[in-house]
Amino acid sequence: MSNMTIVGAQWGDEGKGKIVDLLTSEADMVVRFQGGNNAGHTVIVDGKKYVLHVVPSGILHPGKMCIIGNGVVLDPENFLEEIDALQSLGLDVSPERLKISYKTHLIMPYHRIIDGAREGASKNKIGTTGRGIGPCYEDKKARVGVRAGDLTDPEALKDRIARALEEKNVLFTQLYGLPALDPETVFNDLMAIAPRIVPYLADVSSLIMEAQEADQNIMFEGAQGVMLDIDHGTYPFVTSSNVVCDNASIGSGVNAGIIDQRIAIVKAYTTRVGSGPFPTELFDDTGEFLRRQGGEYGATTGRPRRCGWLDLVVLREMIRLCAPTTMALTKVDVLSGLKEIRLCVAYEYEGKVVKYPPQTPRGLEQSKPVFEVLPGWEEDLSGCEGWDDLPRNCRRYIERVEELLGVKAGFISVGPDRKQTFRR
Ligand code: GDP
Ligand code: IMO
Ligand code: MG
Repeated sequence: MSNMTIVGAQWGDEGKGKIVDLLTSEADMVVRFQGGNNAGHTVIVDGKKYVLHVVPSGILHPGKMCIIGNGVVLDPENFLEEIDALQSLGLDVSPERLKISYKTHLIMPYHRIIDGAREGASKNKIGTTGRGIGPCYEDKKARVGVRAGDLTDPEALKDRIARALEEKNVLFTQLYGLPALDPETVFNDLMAIAPRIVPYLADVSSLIMEAQEADQNIMFEGAQGVMLDIDHGTYPFVTSSNVVCDNASIGSGVNAGIIDQRIAIVKAYTTRVGSGPFPTELFDDTGEFLRRQGGEYGATTGRPRRCGWLDLVVLREMIRLCAPTTMALTKVDVLSGLKEIRLCVAYEYEGKVVKYPPQTPRGLEQSKPVFEVLPGWEEDLSGCEGWDDLPRNCRRYIERVEELLGVKAGFISVGPDRKQTFRR
């Protein structure tokens, strides 16, 4: 192992948490670098289920250092609930092994209100997770954000909250028909929990670089998926951060030169939650089959996930943006029982066959998938421990994906448990 970034290859929920957890056994430090508690990373260890939202999935391994980088947006109340829940499951979530960057932006109550009000009022819902993620990143860019480090400087914090609320209260009262927020109350509520957050604050860049100099293995854990990237995803139906691998360095305050491996987590079919184009979406019994077999319900909001065939056009875009050194193919077991499996190898767009997503505003909406049909398999894969245990047609499916993408699937996952993964 060396330093690696784990990135979601599709629209999120590919099984990143599971692979991060698995590889943490070889890592010394796990760093989250973007997103917030819009993420839901489920890890199952010996039948026990853990759902991580903003805490790195590496937390399940005792003694490994976990870091929340500057590129993350952190909801302080929600963070405390998450660590309390993890602690009650017997995990060590003390400030000795969990650190938050001074530069991490805080999701404030008014961010959640704006997220909810916009989604409630809009005819063109994005289908956000309602966690205030977008409004928090907006304030960061508008330079009126509140950072975790501000908790150590109450006077300045009070000023920043008052300044942020000047504009927001106009929005609340005049556009959304909501009551104004009292800056004093927002400040006092935050200060009431600050003593529990402050011990976690650290100079995260220095910690990571010290680990690097000590030859430790560092893993950067991505949230969401490349098609939800603010620049390169299906805008505007995206999240508000950069999801691509290269944001790992910016979002954690280190140079990109220290990262030498990139693992793309690819679900063996495609899912998405929320609105937006999805060329290979299935609206029939097969879609329902995938949802049921794959347990495709959101870990954060419980919403049913939209399901469809694997889309290699999407994966080609991910590959050109992230250049993964290997792929982890997850949930292959879910495909068992299908007579035939479709693989979207290209799109038909404006009468032409294209291999990359059209960049025009409605390009994806106007694209029709071009499918290759492969034979399915009946066998249950949940007990497979190696390549040779997989049925022939399953190996053929994986090899065809590798061949068309030019990237190897170095990890195959055949069930939700930590043990149900093997390397090739
Ligand atoms: P993440 O957000 O990328 O970490 O993925 P989620 O945790 O939101 O969603 C993946 C879901 O699939 C979780 O419920 C996992 O427990 C489950 N899962 C992960 N890998 C596999 C697999 O190989 N097979 C099956 N059947 N389930 C898996
Ligand atoms: P993990 O890390 C799947 C989606 C939302 C919505 C859009 C914008 O578990 O893979 P936001 O609340 O971020 O402003 O919502 O992005 N979304 C996710 N979909 N998995 C996630 O995270 C997601 N995080 C955000 O459903 O469509
Ligand atoms: Mg998830």
